Amino acid sequence: MSITIRPYQPADLPVMQTITLASFPGISLDQTIEEKFGEQNGHDWRWRKARHIELETTANPAGAFVAEEAGRVIAYVTTTLDRMAGSGRIANLAVVAELRGRGVGRQLIQHALVWFRAQGLSYALIESMSHNEVGRGLYTSVGFQEIGQLVHYAMKL
Ligand SMILES: CC(C)(COP(=O)(O)OP(=O)(O)OC[C@H]1O[C@@H](n2cnc3c(N)ncnc32)[C@H](O)[C@@H]1OP(=O)(O)O)[C@@H](O)C(=O)NCCC(=O)NCCS
Repeated sequence: MSITIRPYQPADLPVMQTITLASFPGISLDQTIEEKFGEQNGHDWRWRKARHIELETTANPAGAFVAEEAGRVIAYVTTTLDRMAGSGRIANLAVVAELRGRGVGRQLIQHALVWFRAQGLSYALIESMSHNEVGRGLYTSVGFQEIGQLVHYAMKL
């Protein structure tokens, strides 16, 4: 079965959020913060992670894409842009678990990179938690270079 990558439509948001919540346990910064400090402002990490997808697709709907197989959304990528700075960031990316390892994640990243170039951007950014091996191998294999490692700090107020 072949996959199609097409632009995001608002009706895709719920399934993108469902894929997200199934994909990010163990690799979400929000989850790590919650494990240390508990829920924030009455919301758990899943709420926060799902909200990221909503905010990204609201801020930059033209830069979000979904992969469909047989009419079913099986994966997505979201991006954010800083046109003045000439940069595009791949914000979130996930493939349903049972369809991983078939090149869909790579195709989505490459699609986003083609779109960045079409927007006239000069460089692309992406980040992952340091223990997310799949992300790191995938990103370097499409041309990203590791620039540095960011350490996140948090405190309860
Ligand atoms: C990361 C993710 C999107 C990759 O999607 P995918 O469709 O499985 O990836 P691909 O099939 O395109 O694989 C591309 C490369 O990823 C790496 N990769 C894939 N599965 C891997 C695994 N289980 N372990 C380590 N590396 C793996 C390989 O380098 C692979 O290249 P190869 O085919 O030459 O070996 C998917 O695993 C996922 O949704 N993970 C959970 C969410 C996540 O980590 N998102 C990224 C952080 S924002």
